[in-house]
Amino acid sequence: MPAPPLNDLLNVAIDAAYAAGKRTLAYFNTRVAVETKSDDTPVTIADREAEQLIRESILRAFPTHSILGEEGGIHAGDDNYRWIIDPIDGTKSFICGVPMYGVLIGCVVGGRPQVGVVYLPATDELIAAATGLGCTWNGRVARVSDTRDLSQAVVCCTSITSAIARSNAFDTIAEKAKVTRGWGDCYGHVLVATGRADVMLDSRMNPWDCAPLLPILSEAGGRYTTWKGEDDIFGPDGVSTNAALHGQVLDILRSERLDPAWSGRSI
Ligand code: IPD
Ligand code: CA
Ligand code: CA
Repeated sequence: MPAPPLNDLLNVAIDAAYAAGKRTLAYFNTRVAVETKSDDTPVTIADREAEQLIRESILRAFPTHSILGEEGGIHAGDDNYRWIIDPIDGTKSFICGVPMYGVLIGCVVGGRPQVGVVYLPATDELIAAATGLGCTWNGRVARVSDTRDLSQAVVCCTSITSAIARSNAFDTIAEKAKVTRGWGDCYGHVLVATGRADVMLDSRMNPWDCAPLLPILSEAGGRYTTWKGEDDIFGPDGVSTNAALHGQVLDILRSERLDPAWSGRSI
């Protein structure tokens, strides 16, 4: 079978994210039952059904590809095309009835995260990117902000408690910033990719929490890296910035000691 162009992968990811997002809306703000997984994080039927729908869409289009999903684990296949799924990123927001949650689909092609889609069903925002093809936000070009100094920056994070527990760096960055805001998860990274915030910090990331973010941020003119500055979706943490602020934020993150006793859980 000939190698599918990135555009084909992107279109499948977009369609699957839309369909899965619509499925989650059927349960949004309905007091859906919440289960607790073995890692002490919540999950609902909406997470499970959305992931199943995405898996079926991908395998219908690309039966030989491999898949890693937060809820369903690994589907073995061709690791040159490795799909990574988070059916609901921001489950805690979803459960609270807060619209800042998203469906995440990334594809690692030839070992590099090259395709990424984030769909925010409750606000109907779709952010999609593939290497060399640009980044779009509901079809328009998505660009990061042109803020050049941290003193003028809007800084977001997911869990303030976890960010502070992880490193003094969060305090230092927050003190220097113009504005700080919470309710992060994927929404915070999307705000950076679309120029509405400048920095988004998350102290705990799994590959499914960030697989689409690397191509999205880089195609929007920004950066997604670990707190050490690696272009990596397998790091334990993540930061999105515009290109100008990446160095300033990384200097602070690198200068502070990470707490070795930190439990690694995002509260
Ligand atoms: C969470 C988000 C959050 C991160 C947590 C994840 P979930 O994902 O990605 O930003 O800090 O570690 O668990 O559980 O809502 O899919
Ligand atoms: Ca997640
Ligand atoms: Ca999830």
